[in-house]
Amino acid sequence: MSILAPGWTSLLYLAAAVCFILALKGLSSPRSARRGNAIGAAGALLAVVTVFLSAQLENIPLILAAIAVGCALAVPVARRVQMTQMPQLVALFNGVGGGAAALVAVLELGHSEDPWVRLAVVFTLLVGAVSFAGSAVTVGKLQELISTRPLLFPGMREVMAAVLLGAVTAGVVVILAGSAGWALALLGLGLAAGLLLVLPVGGADVPIVISLLNAFTGLAVAASGVVLGNVLLLVAGTLVGASGTILTKVMASAMGRGVAGILFGAFRGGSTAGSTVLSGRPVRSSSPEDVAVQLGYAQRVVIVPGYGLAVAQGQHTVAELATSLAARGVEVVFAIHPVAGRMPGHMNVLLAEANVPYESLRELDEVNPEFANTDVALVVGANDVVNPAAKSSPGSPIYGMPILEVVQAQQVVFLKRSMRPGFAGIENELLHDPKTTLLFGDAKESLAKVLAAVKAL
Ligand code: TAP
Repeated sequence: MSILAPGWTSLLYLAAAVCFILALKGLSSPRSARRGNAIGAAGALLAVVTVFLSAQLENIPLILAAIAVGCALAVPVARRVQMTQMPQLVALFNGVGGGAAALVAVLELGHSEDPWVRLAVVFTLLVGAVSFAGSAVTVGKLQELISTRPLLFPGMREVMAAVLLGAVTAGVVVILAGSAGWALALLGLGLAAGLLLVLPVGGADVPIVISLLNAFTGLAVAASGVVLGNVLLLVAGTLVGASGTILTKVMASAMGRGVAGILFGAFRGGSTAGSTVLSGRPVRSSSPEDVAVQLGYAQRVVIVPGYGLAVAQGQHTVAELATSLAARGVEVVFAIHPVAGRMPGHMNVLLAEANVPYESLRELDEVNPEFANTDVALVVGANDVVNPAAKSSPGSPIYGMPILEVVQAQQVVFLKRSMRPGFAGIENELLHDPKTTLLFGDAKESLAKVLAAVKAL
């Protein structure tokens, strides 16, 4: 028996929906993201409590046990995850959401004869299953459990066509006859389609696919709202679907790629993986003391943080270096590339952790014209985002991606451990430029040595 009157249920659902919208608004800026996240979580909690108070639930002990198992698994994982592994975690949670929507759809099939509801069941099932299987592959690739290179086998295109044809047939039968057996077949075909769709995607594009699958899960959840007659699921799913689609578009254009090219590029024959042929030409290496002199006597320094800064956890040290340089009268700003690191906003989050003021951060379009009057560009654990191959090598996997034009600065200093390439697996010509020097070593250790040397100037 439900405790809440239907009017109250609608009101509480409305409040939860408002929380989700405010959460998205909050997440649009690093300053308000933490608050946005908390509001979203509060909305989700309110939604769950409302379901318990308003729906005619059976099997309550089983539901509570499932919630307890979910929390016991998810909370420690979320607490322990490294910032660099966040995309995998998002993919994992997202895939589970898609899978849950698909299972709910299977169970609900017997509850309605309405063809429109059955159509929603078919959509939820198929898209949820694609999202589940596709997300599992993305987790495997990012965690390097399977190869990050595009995985293809002979006849894959034909197998994909057969799977899609089978899915359409199964979908039509489910709508017309409501057959549970065909629904399970559709589930299997959806899982196969998810695998076939994501296996050919190369490592560098995987995070974009995660965002796309996130949008898919949103749509599956929205459709499950139709199946269950639950408005809040419809609203929440639509919000996720819309924001996931926008994020996919933004990420793809920041990397200079088209979404269709990412998904079907390997099918069409073009590989989305990088080549790792390195030339072995000499480079100019430097000492922390020399770098300290370059920085300490500069008028203007632009720091370009990248993935390596996150790996080294050198954010506090780089922030301290910036403060020390500023105290000497050097103008210091941080140049933020939209896809530096491994997830959207990665560098913003990292620098915010070290309390670097937002006023010191410059977006790509803003900072690029300023490199020409910059004395030193200090590239800390970044590579692809400053690689001129994005402009000069049409065959390169990053060709077309806008880059930070550090090559325009008077001097360039790279802090990295070796001559290994970045994520895209391609050589960076800038490392061999006469104006470039390299300080080899872990970014945090190198920064600490440079900081000590700056203080000693
Ligand atoms: P990368 O091109 O991946 O370069 C990272 C550099 O950091 C490498 O050259 C590596 O060289 C160095 N490094 C690693 N660990 C280090 C450490 N402990 N200390 C010092 N250096 C270290 O990074 P990026 O420039 O930030 O570019 C990001 C790349 O990831 C782009 O290709 C982008 O498309 C891709 N991507 C981005 C996203 C998003 S949404 N941000 C998602 C997926 C992929 P050593 O090994 O020699 O030290």
